[in-house]
Amino acid sequence: MLVEPILQSSVKQRLAFKFNQLETVTAMSETLPVIAILGGTGDLGTGLARRWAQAGYQVVIGSRTQEKAQVAADELAQLMVERGVEGVEVKAMENLAAAEAADIAAMTVPFAHQTSTLELVKHALDGKILIDVTVPLVPPKVARVQLPEQGSAGEIAQAVVGENVRVVSAFQNVAAHHLQEGQGMDCDVLVCGNKKDARSEVIKLVEAAGMRGFHGGSIANSAAADALTSVLIFINKQYSCHAGIKITGLDD
Ligand SMILES: NC(=O)c1ccc[n+]([C@@H]2O[C@H](COP(=O)([O-])OP(=O)(O)OC[C@H]3O[C@@H](n4cnc5c(N)ncnc54)[C@H](OP(=O)(O)O)[C@@H]3O)[C@@H](O)[C@H]2O)c1
Repeated sequence: MLVEPILQSSVKQRLAFKFNQLETVTAMSETLPVIAILGGTGDLGTGLARRWAQAGYQVVIGSRTQEKAQVAADELAQLMVERGVEGVEVKAMENLAAAEAADIAAMTVPFAHQTSTLELVKHALDGKILIDVTVPLVPPKVARVQLPEQGSAGEIAQAVVGENVRVVSAFQNVAAHHLQEGQGMDCDVLVCGNKKDARSEVIKLVEAAGMRGFHGGSIANSAAADALTSVLIFINKQYSCHAGIKITGLDD
């Protein structure tokens, strides 16, 4: 059931091509927001890119260098061909150009480089949604909760980019390993941000990626998801797995 959005989308795409209706795929992409992934060449960024490209979104891979972005974009396009997903639109750009090209941007860089990357792109994000995936891990003790004095990575992001950017924190508890796979995921996503409409938009993207997304409240609440990541890393080491979280009690 969780894989439905991805499966439905790719089935639609294949059918469109089967009947030589290329316009259908183009029209579908045009109605969906363009998503840029800043730092999109890493484990988490490429995982999200695969999910959203497979669901029919136009994806822009952002990087510090055009060359690295292009390699990741080419690999993504090739993988989609191997998975039988046609009509995929993926572009490669440096992070600033990617932010400018985006309707919605996701940021997937290590915590140590969150602020510098945001300073670079913040003006290009004005009026847009920024999905902050950064987890405030402090190496080498990444399995220990060490939240920043500002509260959470999401609060840092909101303070850096200002109120004209709707920051939504999400995906901190999703293992890149699972995102890389082509099937649905038995994992829920807490979606935190100060604007409900922005959280709702991001929940659509969570669902497009094959998971369930839940309104988790204001950006301050993202501290809980940030902290959970260290607990999950500890569980992963203890049980040799790639753990995630599930919300229960929904039928009550
Ligand atoms: N991996 C996971 O399973 C996972 C799960 C949940 C959340 N997260 C969080 O998601 C974020 C990304 O994780 P990841 O595992 O994908 O990280 P990663 O592979 O180590 O790095 C992601 C990208 O960050 C960019 N980057 C590296 N150093 C940089 C710098 N000095 N300045 C600007 N950009 C730099 C690089 O892109 P370019 O070299 O192309 O610029 C790199 O490909 C982290 O905050 C992490 O905590 C990860």
